[in-house]
Amino acid sequence: MKVTYSKGLPKADAYMFLCFEDGKKIKERIKGIEKLLGVTIQKESIDDFSGKETENDLLYAGGKRIIISGVGAKDKCDLEKLRKATSRGIKIAGQLKVDSVAIEIFEEDFKGCSPEDVATAMSESCLMRLYRFDKYFTSKDYERIELKQLVFFSGKDSKNHKHFEKGVKDGEILGNATNMARDLGNEPANIATPEYIANIVKKQGAKLNYKVKVFNKKELEKMKAGCILAVAQGSLNEPKFVVMEYNGGSAKSKPVVLVGKGVTFDSGGISIKPSSGMEAMKMDMCGAGAVVGAFEAAARLKLKVNLVGLIPLVENMPSGSAFRPGDIITAINGTTVEVQNTDAEGRLILGDALAYASKYKPKYAIDLATLTGAALIALGHYATIAVANDDELVKKLIAAGEKTYERVWQLPSWEEYDKLIDSDVADVTNVGKGRQAGSIVAGMFLKRFVKDYNWVHLDIAGTAMNTKPTEYIPSHATGVGVRMLIELIRSEKH
Ligand code: BES
Ligand code: ZN
Ligand code: ZN
Repeated sequence: MKVTYSKGLPKADAYMFLCFEDGKKIKERIKGIEKLLGVTIQKESIDDFSGKETENDLLYAGGKRIIISGVGAKDKCDLEKLRKATSRGIKIAGQLKVDSVAIEIFEEDFKGCSPEDVATAMSESCLMRLYRFDKYFTSKDYERIELKQLVFFSGKDSKNHKHFEKGVKDGEILGNATNMARDLGNEPANIATPEYIANIVKKQGAKLNYKVKVFNKKELEKMKAGCILAVAQGSLNEPKFVVMEYNGGSAKSKPVVLVGKGVTFDSGGISIKPSSGMEAMKMDMCGAGAVVGAFEAAARLKLKVNLVGLIPLVENMPSGSAFRPGDIITAINGTTVEVQNTDAEGRLILGDALAYASKYKPKYAIDLATLTGAALIALGHYATIAVANDDELVKKLIAAGEKTYERVWQLPSWEEYDKLIDSDVADVTNVGKGRQAGSIVAGMFLKRFVKDYNWVHLDIAGTAMNTKPTEYIPSHATGVGVRMLIELIRSEKH
């Protein structure tokens, strides 16, 4: 998809406008559109449109296709309302047999949103809405989206051209990076093996000029990464540990470390999962996908920050060589772990990765993981759970997530919860007591591997995988985390 910006009205196959719901003014707004396009819209169409949040129309006038999409009341308008209205409009454009759409950027002032934010929200939501995972359809009858170009524009005399142009470009990068994370999540586990994902990262690093080192099984053995090796030992697909380094900041500035759970398929292992719904566990690497997407975006946006990405990649399978409940394994930092349940594998591989993170003396570290079914039970699909050792960092993440509408909710990390993972036979066990506080307990396990740096764990089990599509969030992998991480990084000095 080509995404461009035009100062003034461009030529296109269809035109799209957002409208507020504001009583009589809606008529003025439509008059303005008629004047701009040099057309007369049928009176009945105008009478029937009020700009409500749920409304959108496709109109034909003077040989032009015009899409109007309601944003709702002006005083309630925020970036999310813009994303939703824009994506409803672009959905219509996607259903037409046209190559290009011109999309007018809203010139209005919104509380707390810069012109750049407005342009970014509009362009990212278009790309996210037009996303489809359709590479495996072979039928010619499959209806593909024919749109090839989105041209955003504003009035010739706008004072905001520079901001809009930058915002549109950023939105394109963020939307595409989110879609990349979705692609990785949706790719089936017979294709997206640890090696496949490691190769994708290598290629991306070469293209965008950041360093990638992939540790293979032998090297992991040398490193004594006992948790990653234990989870992977039942699978024919060997584990990989990907270390990415993007150096956009000054040599002195400490890196932000991003860690992503990369379980390419989670059968549960010997503690096998029920078969119903197991297919969703091809997405148990969405944390890894978010880190890869964030690197893609950070490098393309040329962010002035040093980033380290750590992605342990394994497949969790039951077999004659699989690890067992009751096994005691030794993590990379020497911590011994009693495995009470092989299905609590994500925390094991993250334990090794978080211990490894210490060597970078991180400014802070954030891990993203589809870690517990309990996260989905507690908060559903609408919030990511945070467990942390630094409340200030959580606050910043919550603010970033509010802005990108990837909302985060913090759970406590009190010491009482830590006691739940004491083991009778090793330093720690990988499950708590019964079904108590499943998401917190998983976070407390990770906390045991975090030494001397600030850290937030994000459990994206509820938010990374979607069942019912909404405006610009499709079913299956959502790409959650990419935009929030970039927003957080951009909101501070490095
Ligand atoms: N990958 C799962 C968590 C998950 C479940 C993510 C459903 C998304 C949707 C994780 O590895 C897991 O199996 N966790 C167990 C932990 C338990 C054994 C302590 C769980 O949540 O049941
Ligand atoms: Zn599991
Ligand atoms: Zn898992």
